[in-house]
Amino acid sequence: MAFLELHDLKTHFPVPGSGLFSSTSDVIKAVDGVTLKVEKGSILGLVGESGCGKSTLSRTVMQLQPATSGTVILDGENLTDLQRNEVRMRRLDFQMIFQDPYASLNPRMTVYSTLAEAICQRHPNLKKDRPTLTQKVSQLMATVGLDSRYMRKYPHEFSGGQRQRIAIARALAPEPKLIIADEPVSALDVSIQSQILNLLLDLRNDLGLTMIFISHDLSVVRYIADEIAVMYGGKIVEYGNGEEVFHNPKDEYTKRLLSAIPHFKATA
Ligand SMILES: Nc1ncnc2c1ncn2[C@@H]1O[C@H](COP(=O)(O)OP(=O)(O)OP(=O)(O)O)[C@@H](O)[C@H]1O
Ligand SMILES: [Mg+2]
Repeated sequence: MAFLELHDLKTHFPVPGSGLFSSTSDVIKAVDGVTLKVEKGSILGLVGESGCGKSTLSRTVMQLQPATSGTVILDGENLTDLQRNEVRMRRLDFQMIFQDPYASLNPRMTVYSTLAEAICQRHPNLKKDRPTLTQKVSQLMATVGLDSRYMRKYPHEFSGGQRQRIAIARALAPEPKLIIADEPVSALDVSIQSQILNLLLDLRNDLGLTMIFISHDLSVVRYIADEIAVMYGGKIVEYGNGEEVFHNPKDEYTKRLLSAIPHFKATA
């Protein structure tokens, strides 16, 4: 069994106002029968155009959005069976990294407070143990390539790339089983993008991190992902080893995505 398994996962939303004048109501099939596997220590790249259901899929995997049907199995445990109070603790096993670290970090909290709070979500007993917390915060900062002398600084005192490093450290702090990165480099300068991608690759190699990396940019996904899943209209239309998907796309939509990359020919 793979580390993360999705079986025929569906997330449908009712269309507001539909069903008023008829017995059938319309639904938006944001996620419509997704079956996927992610092995421990690997990076799944999830690509597809805006509105195809990438974020809804990740919210459903994290149990932030209830599934309409289907199952999510993480580390052998069926999360779709859990009771509400159990779900809250399990959410720590999933951490997200977002596109805009400035919006996702609290501007009034120092790096120390942000990371200490995230560490204490997993280890509440450390709340009063400042020396251990300080040591753990230093370690986390070092892990993401930040100087721990800056732990008393606020998000606005860092550059965009450094802020994304803080956001990555915060995601690591509760020792998650899976990281979901939703367009984590789209808001960064191209030169900074590769630094963050390399950091994520290093973390995968050094810590055995398992990750779903969401992007609409196939060239970024190709760089970082082991497996690629192409999503279209709530369904996975193509799935396979990264290089395979690139060199031998089977689906028409994937071929169109590939041909939209400058200097790339799907037939090459
Ligand atoms: N809470 C919700 N209620 C109703 N419809 C929703 C809800 N969340 C998402 N949708 C719809 O589900 C579909 C998929 O949206 P989603 O945000 O998952 O796409 P996405 O692939 O993440 O897009 P983007 O690349 O722009 O982030 C869209 O049609 C969206 O309008
Ligand atoms: Mg999205």
